[in-house]
Amino acid sequence: MTRGALFPRDFLWGAATSAYQIEGSPLADGAGPSIWHRFAHSPGRIANGDTGDLACDHYRRYREDVAIMADLGLNAYRFSVAWSRVLPQGRGTVNHKGLGFYQRLVDALLERGIRPMVTLYHWDLSATLHDRGGWLNPDSPNWFADYAQVMFKALGDRVPLWITINEPWVVAVLGHLEGQHAPGHRDLFETPRVAHHLLLAHARAVDVYRGLGRHRIGLAVNLEPQHPVSDARADREAATRRDAFINRWFLDPLFQGRYPHEMASIFGPAWPDFTSEELALIRAPGDFIGVNYYSRGCVRADPDATPLHAVRVSRPEALNTAMGWEVYPEGLTQTLLWLRQRYANPPIYITENGAAFDDPPARDGLVADPLRVAYLRDHIVAAAKALEQGVDLRGYFAWSLLDNFEWAEGYSKRFGLYHVDPRDQRRLPKASARFYREVIASNGASLTQEAEPYSLGF
Ligand code: FCB
Repeated sequence: MTRGALFPRDFLWGAATSAYQIEGSPLADGAGPSIWHRFAHSPGRIANGDTGDLACDHYRRYREDVAIMADLGLNAYRFSVAWSRVLPQGRGTVNHKGLGFYQRLVDALLERGIRPMVTLYHWDLSATLHDRGGWLNPDSPNWFADYAQVMFKALGDRVPLWITINEPWVVAVLGHLEGQHAPGHRDLFETPRVAHHLLLAHARAVDVYRGLGRHRIGLAVNLEPQHPVSDARADREAATRRDAFINRWFLDPLFQGRYPHEMASIFGPAWPDFTSEELALIRAPGDFIGVNYYSRGCVRADPDATPLHAVRVSRPEALNTAMGWEVYPEGLTQTLLWLRQRYANPPIYITENGAAFDDPPARDGLVADPLRVAYLRDHIVAAAKALEQGVDLRGYFAWSLLDNFEWAEGYSKRFGLYHVDPRDQRRLPKASARFYREVIASNGASLTQEAEPYSLGF
């Protein structure tokens, strides 16, 4: 470590994005439609009727965006591949024009010394595959493995880090139980089967990678500590159920080959009777875990809230982001320590961390975003604390490089280090971009200097 640096010399400093959120041109060059393209074009699904048709126009402006990354000093960049650009029908014939985009992007990154971390699935399933049942189809893990193989063969020599699936919990729960994400289903019986197929898909892709790849592959999960709002037994039990539902549902099978025992009572008759052979197939920890951390959950028991009988409540006295998520940096340290303890110290990348705030308009070419600066600072310090306590943390990726299409919230929620003006697509740095550049340049040493007045005091 260099003097004062809080992080090891080979630590990865990155930013993260995903295909549908930034690329635009969803049907260009022979790409097939995805479920997000369809969903965004279904009236009433997305705030303000927004779609990803243009997004950040990254499909055409990627060179400019790579230059921004170089300017920030990033040594890593996490992006996702749109499955149906590469395989317009989801399987079968490869669309070389679509694949070519990612090949050029990887080349541009490597030219600047930026290591690509590629996510294979960040929620934009091919619409054709959806019409064949999507993730409910027992064949879906094989479709995914075939697609993964195409990508490993095309980019495997140059991409050192792969993520199979981003946040399977969100796919299963927001996509199939609560319906606010594509494909917009609300079906208790679909949900655990979709989740299981996603885990199988991950395991199949890891398997394919073992035969082909030379680097590392893992799953990215959304994690948040669950704290009861009171000491009452019902609230404590509700927090434990929510912990199983959010934090352990996907990680226990991966590392321990079984689902948390709470799952069967949460889903009741909708929980399938998995055989031990089926469970053995999804025990596939991979080489690292990607952690997407934003907040914690404060949990209250609520008998009417099915299926969990628990609700997340917001604490008005806390500082909440524009998403209504409590700013709680301690929770990142807690989460990382929990992973270390429960799953035998796996290598970890923080694959997403960041905050949406209502930024003021730019002045003199810069957007002042003191709350985001404080959020990033306090979370990076929280990550350093975990590192100090022996967590095998290898990198940190800020969400997100650019203001982008925030799913059901459309463009109304801004997470970027750079502001994107939707009218002229100009990228303007926010103060948080400057802040992050200093953190990266000093490998964290700048964090040990005196805090700015807008620090949250963590
Ligand atoms: C995560 C998603 C990412 C982004 C952030 C705010 O759940 O992976 O695409 O929407 O939340």
